[in-house]
Amino acid sequence: MARPNLIDKLKKALPASAQPPLDAIHRRARAESLPLYLVGGAVRDLLLGRPTLDVDLTLEGDAPALARRVAAGLPHVRCVVHSAFGTATLKGSGFRLDVATARAETYDRPGALPSVSPGSLHDDLLRRDFTVNAMALSLTGDRAGSIIDPFGGKADLDAKLLRVLHEASFRDDATRILRGARYGPRLGFRFEAKTLHWIERDVGFLESISGPRLREELTRTLREPEPQRILLRLQELGALRAIHRALSFDGRRAEAFETLNRLLREPSSTAYLALMAWDLSLQEAAALAARLALNRRQTEAVRAAPVARELERELSGRVKPSRTVELLSPFPLPTTWALAASGQERARRQALRYLRRWRSLKPALDGHALLAMGAKPGPRLGEVLRHLKAAKLDSEVRSRGDEERMARRLLGLSSDRRE
Ligand code: CTP
Repeated sequence: MARPNLIDKLKKALPASAQPPLDAIHRRARAESLPLYLVGGAVRDLLLGRPTLDVDLTLEGDAPALARRVAAGLPHVRCVVHSAFGTATLKGSGFRLDVATARAETYDRPGALPSVSPGSLHDDLLRRDFTVNAMALSLTGDRAGSIIDPFGGKADLDAKLLRVLHEASFRDDATRILRGARYGPRLGFRFEAKTLHWIERDVGFLESISGPRLREELTRTLREPEPQRILLRLQELGALRAIHRALSFDGRRAEAFETLNRLLREPSSTAYLALMAWDLSLQEAAALAARLALNRRQTEAVRAAPVARELERELSGRVKPSRTVELLSPFPLPTTWALAASGQERARRQALRYLRRWRSLKPALDGHALLAMGAKPGPRLGEVLRHLKAAKLDSEVRSRGDEERMARRLLGLSSDRRE
């Protein structure tokens, strides 16, 4: 039965700026009798009544050619073509529409990127991860508005099951284990029994996945609302160990993730990565950063995590604010947030005070003020400023006058007449 209302629903679910390009592609494909489909996560989300952000279209035909013709008629829309994959992206403000030539994929070896060749819609759905992601919404022709569902995706959607399309799925692409784990908390889905069995059997194939692909999957995981639930599941499945032998996640780490989430409403994935490296040795943290091909900022935060952990003891004792600042200021901020979420209670409080107040606290006097008071330019000036800052942090000076008196004493200047 035709369900044109799904097409309307799709258009309504998109940001307003994405509607003209989608309409234009849709009109042109209809006029030229080209078989065009909505595929992937957008079909799943549409059927679940969830917002759709990413639109992936598949064409049985030359997708880049269609995309170029459409973009030519639309001001403010850019068309980026990847000829090797037969795909094109239409980009404008606040939207992105991907149009791909339907393709078949074969995997030469586990973990490798697939070889692709043009194919039918069926081939295109067959290369996908889970049945719930392997449905299409037909946008043109007699079946416009109907769902094409060769693998029982709709039934699995209703039963909230993640089922792979064939037994070799995780061998072909073990990142599907990470993708599936993400859908658990987000959509309330669980792995179907055979799929779970194949994950347990094939989880070791994660070892063959390249660092950049793992980093991409992991950062997508860390951007989900409750990444700790996904990581606990990945731990259970043995996936973290397969990614890197020192990587593990337990209830304590999950609590630290929750704390970080409370402290910062949207923690950066870098701070989460630092938390993941919290219990590692220096060597393990460096090896993990290399395995995940982390960028420089992420690598610094991860490598600093075991060093920050070592500060917990000193920060748990009676330590002056100025000493806390001295200890913490060399650390990357994401690592310090990790400390604020993970360390012992007192150390956490110190780290939080540092992050929220002390690190931005400045003395009332700056270098210009000291020069105006008669100080000579040179390194001594810097020392005095640092001294003033420490004194202010430790409440030894409370007013500008206090600071001036202290500065004069330190610089060996005579007292001001006003005194
Ligand atoms: N896909 C796949 N295997 C992968 C990556 C992607 O089968 N390793 C397919 C799935 O059909 C997926 C679609 O490509 O639905 C689009 O991929 P992506 O945008 O990454 O996923 P979404 O399903 O949109 O998931 P999410 O909601 O997490 O973005």
